[in-house]
Amino acid sequence: MLLGTQIINAAGRLEIGGCDTVELAREFGTPLYVVDEQAVRQKCRAFQRAFAEAWPDTEVTYAGKAFLPLAMCRLIAEEGIGLDVASGGELYTALQADFPANRISLHGNNKSVDEIRMALEAGVGRIVVDNLRDLEIIRTLTSADRPTTIHIRVTPGIDPHTHRRIRTGQADTKFGLGIGDGQAMLAIETALEMPGVRLTGIHCHVGSQLLDMSAHTAAAEIMVDFMDEVRSAAGWVPEDLNLGGGFGIRYLPEQNPPTPEEAARAIAAVLMSRLNEKKLPQPRLMIEPGRAIIGEAGTTLYTIGAIKQVSIPEAPFQRLYVAVDGGMSDNPRTQLYDARYYAAIANRAGQKPDRVATIAGKHCETDILIWDIALHDPRQGDLLAVSCTGAYNHAMSSNYNRLPRPAVVFAQGGDAELVVRRETFADLVGHDLIPARLSADSETAAAHL
Ligand code: LLP
Repeated sequence: MLLGTQIINAAGRLEIGGCDTVELAREFGTPLYVVDEQAVRQKCRAFQRAFAEAWPDTEVTYAGKAFLPLAMCRLIAEEGIGLDVASGGELYTALQADFPANRISLHGNNKSVDEIRMALEAGVGRIVVDNLRDLEIIRTLTSADRPTTIHIRVTPGIDPHTHRRIRTGQADTKFGLGIGDGQAMLAIETALEMPGVRLTGIHCHVGSQLLDMSAHTAAAEIMVDFMDEVRSAAGWVPEDLNLGGGFGIRYLPEQNPPTPEEAARAIAAVLMSRLNEKKLPQPRLMIEPGRAIIGEAGTTLYTIGAIKQVSIPEAPFQRLYVAVDGGMSDNPRTQLYDARYYAAIANRAGQKPDRVATIAGKHCETDILIWDIALHDPRQGDLLAVSCTGAYNHAMSSNYNRLPRPAVVFAQGGDAELVVRRETFADLVGHDLIPARLSADSETAAAHL
């Protein structure tokens, strides 16, 4: 499964962005997150083009939670799309990268006063209001002479087919204001009366890694019906309709997620007919892909260490455990969401797989990265490339078992540049403090009793 600029070069090795992965591993060490810069740019452009072709007025915003080092902010800024941030830390990162504040949206289901203040002071493009408390905080910090633009996040009451931990559109959710229970309407009526607020749109996000468009199109219809209700009840028609992110990617060769063109056309068709039916004007259509921009562009390189053939009670009565030098600290998604990944031996990428292996991490847990994957004769010292790790891997990484976080490189046109340096052992203890009364000497313990 070759994605983006990936090829198998003349030496039979996997190449990403014109860089030989064996050379990358030698120069930067493993585990290593490699980002195919051109693939990220292509996805940004594909979404922009597809939506602009399907709908007269559109805006694409990258959901930064998926992966947000400073260099990524720069890349997104250059591509001219917007940026969603979901915390003060993400907002800080974007501002540190000089990301244009007016293209930033602030999200979050429990924004602090400080986060909202920081967003207002930076002059962000909009704040997406999740609850009535957000509105009350905004009321205290804004005035008619310095109004802020907001959207109201609503819950359409849709249960998409995806892992239960990444579903968000259903009625029973911590996110947004319910259409069904009248909370969304109440928030809109409240916002319309606030002098310091310019309410321009409504927002929803139904779930993540959606491999067909049914949840998005169902949400689009519900949102238009809600626009119609709002027009009748409050005399207000949203200028912006944001349908969130959630566009699935190809983690496995057999998966076939909709292309940006298919996604745009499916949404536009449903929107157009429902808006016409309700005689509503066409809003600006906004989307917030995170995973679909960065997911397929990321590959994690690991070095293979211990290999074990284990007898097991069920067929095929043997399991070949292949351990790598990372695991759940650099990719917690398999543990959290039963996520499945594809991998290949990067230094012999041209060779046909000849056996099935189980890829294990190095943590003190059963942190299996891939249960069954066909590989070509995995050996100690081989380089394993796990595909599609760009989204929610680096972003959700940890120091479990005190493993330093891997480095991130951007590979492009044969050059690889470090964008996040590898953590060191010294980094691991850098925030720890030892109270003066604690010594390393066991003799002094008695004095504390
Ligand atoms: N917009 C909002 C309001 C969101 O909450 C999210 C994701 C997105 C956009 C981007 O969704 P995407 O296009 O990436 O599916 N950690 C999980 C995914 C959590 C998604 C949270 N919200 C995972 O690793 O699968």
